[in-house]
Amino acid sequence: MNQGLPFWAQEVIGTAIPTKVQDGVLRCAIADGDSGIDYYRSIDGAHMHDRASVSYAMSTLDTPIYRQHLNGVRPSSLDALIVDVGGGDGRNALPWLEWGYKRVVVVDPIFSALRRLRSRLADQPQWLDRLLLIEADARRLPLVPQCATLVQAIESLYYLNEAYEDGLRECTRILSVSGRLLVSERDYEGGLLLSLLYGNLRDSLAQARTRDVWDGVDGLRVRSRCFTAVELAAMLERNHLRVLSHRGVSALSLILAYLRSVGKITSDDETQIDDVHQLLLDLANTGSMRRCHVVVAEKA
Ligand SMILES: C[S@@+](CC[C@H](N)C(=O)[O-])C[C@H]1O[C@@H](n2cnc3c(N)ncnc32)[C@H](O)[C@@H]1O
Repeated sequence: MNQGLPFWAQEVIGTAIPTKVQDGVLRCAIADGDSGIDYYRSIDGAHMHDRASVSYAMSTLDTPIYRQHLNGVRPSSLDALIVDVGGGDGRNALPWLEWGYKRVVVVDPIFSALRRLRSRLADQPQWLDRLLLIEADARRLPLVPQCATLVQAIESLYYLNEAYEDGLRECTRILSVSGRLLVSERDYEGGLLLSLLYGNLRDSLAQARTRDVWDGVDGLRVRSRCFTAVELAAMLERNHLRVLSHRGVSALSLILAYLRSVGKITSDDETQIDDVHQLLLDLANTGSMRRCHVVVAEKA
């Protein structure tokens, strides 16, 4: 394999899906008409990495929490294949490169987000040798069966809505027999809180009768899916996965980010940011008021 892909790419890429390479990204054709993908195209892909520099923004508060959750599922061998499904601009792929893993795959349907990630690493060619970027839909991963020791899908599968299980099945297909799957999915009540804070009471009550969550930026709206803890565990079990741990991301991060957006958290609160981070890290393990469920599972 050439054209800027790492030397090991050929071993993990399946042949069933036609691909081409552009700017160091393996590009697969993506079917039209998916609202989640259309939304992310319209905002030029995820900007979680950029947002993580704004104090008290949700991405800033949550990124260390995800790092902690990922640290808990580190495979023992640095040769393990790590696949980040819906990895966006790569904030949750970077820890794996920092920890020395030699084969990290980021899959996302938005080419520009992957290209931004690649250009951020341009001055670290030794990292690019360990990173394979793939433009693809979670429902059609161009990867060979059972290639991955760890598959993570962090706040991405919920954009599949009714097709959630199609994405989950693909994640399971590429997972090795003893591998781990880590998913982060919106919590039902966390979704209501989001709608109440950023929308209004009427929207929140209407949403309560469904498992939909509506959100978005710059006046653009996107629908995603949420779960209660029991519903998510049942969904995984129905798909032949055994839950090993069920933790989360506290709803406090959502509330804090909202308070920042309305000016109730200001630069005066900067002095407390370390304590806030520590509290959120603790609540990720012990809390029950969740914005997202973070579940680790294995093949049953
Ligand atoms: C909230 S962002 C999370 C990005 C990243 N996982 C993170 O935590 O920083 C949601 C991501 O899901 C991706 N996404 C949306 N629909 C998808 C699909 N059908 N297949 C794979 N990824 C999808 C988006 O492009 C976006 O990068």
